[in-house]
Amino acid sequence: MRVRLTSHGMTKFTVNDRPVQYHMDPQTPLLWALRDASNLTGTKYGCGTGDCGACTVDIDGMAIRSCRVTIAAVEGRFVTTIEGLSPDRSHPVQEAWAAQNVPQCGYCQSGMIMAASALLRRNRDPSDADIDAAMTNICRCGTYPRVREAIKQAARIMRGDERVAATPAPGISAAEAARHVPGMSAPRRGGAQ
Ligand code: FES
Ligand code: FES
Repeated sequence: MRVRLTSHGMTKFTVNDRPVQYHMDPQTPLLWALRDASNLTGTKYGCGTGDCGACTVDIDGMAIRSCRVTIAAVEGRFVTTIEGLSPDRSHPVQEAWAAQNVPQCGYCQSGMIMAASALLRRNRDPSDADIDAAMTNICRCGTYPRVREAIKQAARIMRGDERVAATPAPGISAAEAARHVPGMSAPRRGGAQ
């Protein structure tokens, strides 16, 4: 699916702490503005119907499925994508995800991580029931048990009850793992500024 760009209309909000103006149809789903105009491709397209959670981003502290919200609906709000969760993959959820080796194919994982981080922002000690209620994302690889363990570990890290060595995955150097993740690419003509 491609977004339709228009020569008129401007939608302004904040993405990963940067003010952005989208010269696009205001009814464009946020997912496509992020991916097509801002090149923030960490947010994935799965179903487009709000069911799978692959497109989950954080909007004003809430986990929101970006395929089901228009850019007009986020005017003036603060959007965080997986690229903006931390500058160096040091968010406790990311550390716990690595420690628990959660990802398999990885496709659902950015949405899972964004949903988990939103959960832990409002609940520093979630129960299994809390996690099950918040984590409605679908994983075709069946990582659910590891997701649950990683969320509990991230909670311990955030409470200061545990520290983990943020070891990179095998085959990735420490320098590469710590490399700054660019939150935005250069603006594209007709898209975001
Ligand atoms: S792509 Fe948005 S919920 Fe599946
Ligand atoms: S890790 Fe493959 S879909 Fe979740």
